[in-house]
Amino acid sequence: MAKVESKEKGIPPKAISETEKPKKSQKKTTDSEKPFLKTISGIGPTTRQRLEEAGYGSKESIALATKAQLTEISGIAEKTAALLIREARARFDLGLKKGSEYEASAKTRVKLTTGSQAFDSLLGGGFETGSITELAGENGCGKTQIAHQLAINCVKFLDQDVVWIDTEGTFRFNRIVQIAEAAGMDPDTVLSRITVGRAYNSEHQMALTEEALTMVPNVGLIIVDSLMAHFRSEFAGRGTLAERQQLIGKHLSFISKQAEILNCVGIVTNQVSAKPDAMFFGDPNKPVGGNVVGHTVTSRLMIRKGKAIKRTATLTKSPELPDGKIEFAITGEGVQDYSK
Ligand code: GTP
Ligand code: MG
Repeated sequence: MAKVESKEKGIPPKAISETEKPKKSQKKTTDSEKPFLKTISGIGPTTRQRLEEAGYGSKESIALATKAQLTEISGIAEKTAALLIREARARFDLGLKKGSEYEASAKTRVKLTTGSQAFDSLLGGGFETGSITELAGENGCGKTQIAHQLAINCVKFLDQDVVWIDTEGTFRFNRIVQIAEAAGMDPDTVLSRITVGRAYNSEHQMALTEEALTMVPNVGLIIVDSLMAHFRSEFAGRGTLAERQQLIGKHLSFISKQAEILNCVGIVTNQVSAKPDAMFFGDPNKPVGGNVVGHTVTSRLMIRKGKAIKRTATLTKSPELPDGKIEFAITGEGVQDYSK
């Protein structure tokens, strides 16, 4: 498997544990200085390597894993998995909180601007860190264009790096240059802070995502463009639907968990399928991926193409914002407000 490495030179690679929010209970200070797996007696170098390669190198990832997930890794016995999870949970604040403490965690959430005031206002200021937002819409509506704009805005406004999992080969160097220049950014600086993983199948997509979100330091934005393309083509028959949905659920849960731990913006793009019988009764387009996707993403935005540069964005799911619809534009310079 190809190693995904940050191209950012100035920042030393960090484990996720170093990017976490300040903890109330860092009980064992000496242990916290060492990589978690090295502090567990009975875990040899081979097991450690296997765990790290599967994305379970940190105490956070192990604390939030299930025994079944760890035992799937060859050579990990159930007893070892149980021990690891127990130890990781003892050293990681799993997150029992009073309602009042949520105010503090809400304050750590940051909004990533879209570049359009109307679009930002629909989202209460922009795309929020700590959760996944789905961008759904038909071909050419602008999902990948929005992703390019967000990548530049992440570097510009959050001063953080971007992980881009490209499943369709649509990440465009030229578009980054064009939009970055329009935003007054040095394109080379922006490009050096985007780590792109070109995924050739669904398994590769999941592995790249896990590796990138574990290895790349200082991630402010993770984009998976598109979430479903490989899964749809590889699991075509009805008989494979259950397996497909299970894998998508696993993939999305991982992204969601990491978006929360790293406090970064999660963006997945999704296609829509026409529902002929709904043509006369409401929305004819429905994001693919069924309930697993619908339930796992925190917010859902439907993007529609209008005439020329005009687009609309409709917020159809959000844990705290009302549904709504706005107009915006996609131009050579990226996402902008639409004016007639
Ligand atoms: P799929 O990936 O096929 O589902 O589509 P998508 O939603 O990702 O569409 P994408 O973001 O690739 O949008 C492509 C559209 O963006 C084009 O058809 C153009 O309308 C618009 N677009 C792309 N580049 C430019 C540009 O430089 N200038 C302008 N004005 N529009 C552009
Ligand atoms: Mg696209």
